[in-house]
Amino acid sequence: MEISKRIQRLKTSPVRKLNPYAEEAERKGIKIHHLNIGQPDIETPKKFIEAIGKYDGKTLKYEHSRGIKPLLKKIQEYYDKLGIHYEEDEIVITNGGSEGLSFSLLAIFDEGDEILVAEPYYANYNSFYDVLGIKRNAVRTYAENGFHLPNRDEIEKHITPKTKAYMFSNPSNPTGVVSTKRELDDIAYLSKKHDMFIISDEVYREFVYSDRKAISFGTYKDLSENVIIIDSISKRFSACGARIGCIISKNKDFMNAVFRECQMRLSAPTLEMIGAAALYDLPANYFEESRKEYDNRRKILFEELTKMEGVIMKEPEGAFYVLVKLPVKNAEDFAIWLLKDFNIDGETVMFAPGEGFYATAGLGVDEVRMSYVLDSKDLKRAMHILKEGLIKYRKEVEK
Ligand SMILES: Cc1ncc(COP(=O)(O)O)c(C=O)c1O
Repeated sequence: MEISKRIQRLKTSPVRKLNPYAEEAERKGIKIHHLNIGQPDIETPKKFIEAIGKYDGKTLKYEHSRGIKPLLKKIQEYYDKLGIHYEEDEIVITNGGSEGLSFSLLAIFDEGDEILVAEPYYANYNSFYDVLGIKRNAVRTYAENGFHLPNRDEIEKHITPKTKAYMFSNPSNPTGVVSTKRELDDIAYLSKKHDMFIISDEVYREFVYSDRKAISFGTYKDLSENVIIIDSISKRFSACGARIGCIISKNKDFMNAVFRECQMRLSAPTLEMIGAAALYDLPANYFEESRKEYDNRRKILFEELTKMEGVIMKEPEGAFYVLVKLPVKNAEDFAIWLLKDFNIDGETVMFAPGEGFYATAGLGVDEVRMSYVLDSKDLKRAMHILKEGLIKYRKEVEK
């Protein structure tokens, strides 16, 4: 018996790749500061559990494949406040943004079709592309200019008649970049010209740290046939384990296709949809507080990293990640060394090697992605350990 070729193409997540080394370090009693994961540490609002506690159904039933009406309505109202109106049948609830991504790609792509991406990008996208046999046409972006897109002509060079969509996250995991209006306008223009979908993953929408706001592709009214928005409560409300997200689009054919996929898996989880609906009742200042907390951490990270000799980065603008270039030949070797051979008073740090966030082999070898989901005190400590580790590694290991 053999496992399908499709699944054999799936690679280990770069975020989890170093887990065996971390487990070994923990067995030896080393405390690891985890800068490798995107799991927010902010408490999930109590409203979530309280709403679930009030459920009085005798049987926990399947719900409608599209999702429960109260949640669809809350999402509608949330978007109305952003100035974007969606009808109920333009939204489907999914098991996290992840299922939304998977269903969207499944609805659009046949094996061998091509997707336009800007590398580096969220590593998990590769899993979906690999399973579905989607070829990546990657536009390179650089740490030196904050991972912003090149000009329109440069992007267009990567589009062929087989390119069916552009997909990206804004604000971005892993780079922390927030797309500018110019960048979005260029993508909008190219999507119209080349008849492409835009899969706009906006799960970090609230996490922007300047006066700027993340511009939703939903605001591009003349692109309503092209735009697909992926959304989720995971990061917005620090509720990753709820597994509630959604797909939103005004393209009827696409939404019909996606709805049939939703029927295939019957229903999203009933109780979590009830909890999620209650989260949308939180006051607007809820985001202010969590944003302030992340902003503070972002400043610490940026300040400390830029003090380290040879580190290349621009100030991260959004989400809670940063991709930095380190003065080492191979960042994965360095990350493993930190786990295996280095600690300060029994503590070390862990981050995700950059290579896994690129489509092109060999890129990102000297880069790492760090997330700032630790409290300020731990983050400062983690930066101190990294700084000392970097000095020792360059002096004694790489020489
Ligand atoms: C860019 C991006 N999109 C989508 C997701 C999926 O999140 P979830 O499935 O928890 O909604 C993540 C999770 O880290 C992410 O970083």
